[in-house]
Amino acid sequence: MPITVSLLAYLVSSVCCIMALRGLSGPETARGGLLFGIIGMALAVLTTLMLPGVQSYGLIALGIAIGGLIGAVIAKKIEMTALPQLVAAFHSLVGLAAVLIAAAAFKNPEAYGISEGNGGEIHLGSLIEMSLGVAIGAVTFTGSLIAFGKLQGIVTGKPVVFRGQHFLNALLGLGLVALIVLLCLSGSPLFFWSIIGVSLLLGILMIIPIGGADMPVIVSMLNSYSGWAAAGIGFTLQNNLLIIVGALVGASGAILSYIMCKGMNRSFFNVILGGFGGETATAAAGAQGDRHVKVGSAEDAAFILKNASSVIIVPGYGMAVAQAQHALREMADHLKSEGVKVRYAIHPVAGRMPGHMNVLLAEASVPYEDVLELEEINRDFSQTDVAFVIGANDITNPAAKKDPSSPIYGMPVFDVESAGTVLFIKRSLGSGYAGIDNELFFYDNTMMLLGDAKKMCEGIIKAFEH
Ligand code: TAP
Repeated sequence: MPITVSLLAYLVSSVCCIMALRGLSGPETARGGLLFGIIGMALAVLTTLMLPGVQSYGLIALGIAIGGLIGAVIAKKIEMTALPQLVAAFHSLVGLAAVLIAAAAFKNPEAYGISEGNGGEIHLGSLIEMSLGVAIGAVTFTGSLIAFGKLQGIVTGKPVVFRGQHFLNALLGLGLVALIVLLCLSGSPLFFWSIIGVSLLLGILMIIPIGGADMPVIVSMLNSYSGWAAAGIGFTLQNNLLIIVGALVGASGAILSYIMCKGMNRSFFNVILGGFGGETATAAAGAQGDRHVKVGSAEDAAFILKNASSVIIVPGYGMAVAQAQHALREMADHLKSEGVKVRYAIHPVAGRMPGHMNVLLAEASVPYEDVLELEEINRDFSQTDVAFVIGANDITNPAAKKDPSSPIYGMPVFDVESAGTVLFIKRSLGSGYAGIDNELFFYDNTMMLLGDAKKMCEGIIKAFEH
């Protein structure tokens, strides 16, 4: 394929990737966005296969067949609640690919056109790009593996902290910069492999102090790293598409991490420095004391809901765990058919990943126009009869507004307590992700519906029918 044609194809493919991101930013346009993504990536792969220099189509076909099969099986089987760890596992592969490509280019620079003729030295510019790409790639690889392990429960989800940890990390970071400078000055393989070794170690040490609870932010940060690693390798391979797509992934991952931190009112450094979520149990333990909790049944809830004229549903992580979205939608449809105004309120960090609740509600065919963001709906709770909290906890906790000593103080939360009645489905009076007590359980206008979210919704539907 002539080089100008391949450049044009790469440009079209890059535009498709930009359109994909644009489409994926809203539920109505997400399908279109995915289609753009598929077309863009298919065009990119085909163009690359038609470039001169491809050594073995057989091996490539084998790789595509094995990878495609594994991908298809995982996509079919994966539980919605396991998506964060899947994403982490995939990022580790991007990091590994960046390391392997850089190693191949370093071993055989002539083949990649990055050295002065046959057997000559690698260009300084290529050494800089390559060393940055390989360092970020190796950090992404081990960091993502640890994130995967924590989310999957293979590695402890608690922060692993030890004395001098930040000092050691800073030392390794400085050592890495020194090694990169030495590689660029000498081109010695010793420094190249040392960069990989130190970066692999740094990836582990950077992620172990971070609690499982903060992992979604970390996964998104590693997503950003994997993009920058790909962009770095794109410079080495002089591949414009890799540079553009890598930069898109790098920038979008960074923006997402920022949005998540803002939604939790945490600074990015606070997340990176780790330790959050380690001391959780104590706060939750003394939760009940001798305070009075009103506990109701599915029948009680059905009665209250049927007599309401407006209901706002607040879904959270527990709804995802219970896979209660279909039963919830059925319950809401029932209420709507009786003339009750039903809307869903989505917090930016409800669940465990951005858009978690939106995806689940869309899967259950909840109309998009019924689903509103925090700032769109928060004011309406005071004119609403029932706030129906299902498997959510932290995102409703008034401590975020009232208690400056609370770890979630300042996090924007739903004003559910200003609704006429708050119905709260969860299995116990235990804490949520942040590990802190929620005084809302003890408010006069709160009724706790203790049980699994799906079973409780099914119970309410049954009670409607009687
Ligand atoms: P959480 O505060 O984690 O509360 C979820 C509640 O669901 C738990 O208290 C749990 O109580 C209940 N639950 C679990 N399984 C259940 C089941 N089968 N049936 C009924 N209830 C069940 O969730 P949230 O309100 O969605 O808040 C999200 C939290 O995650 C925030 O603190 C946020 O900062 C954090 N976070 C989110 C993200 C993103 S991007 N979404 C990223 C990082 C951190 P029981 O055990 O008593 O049932």
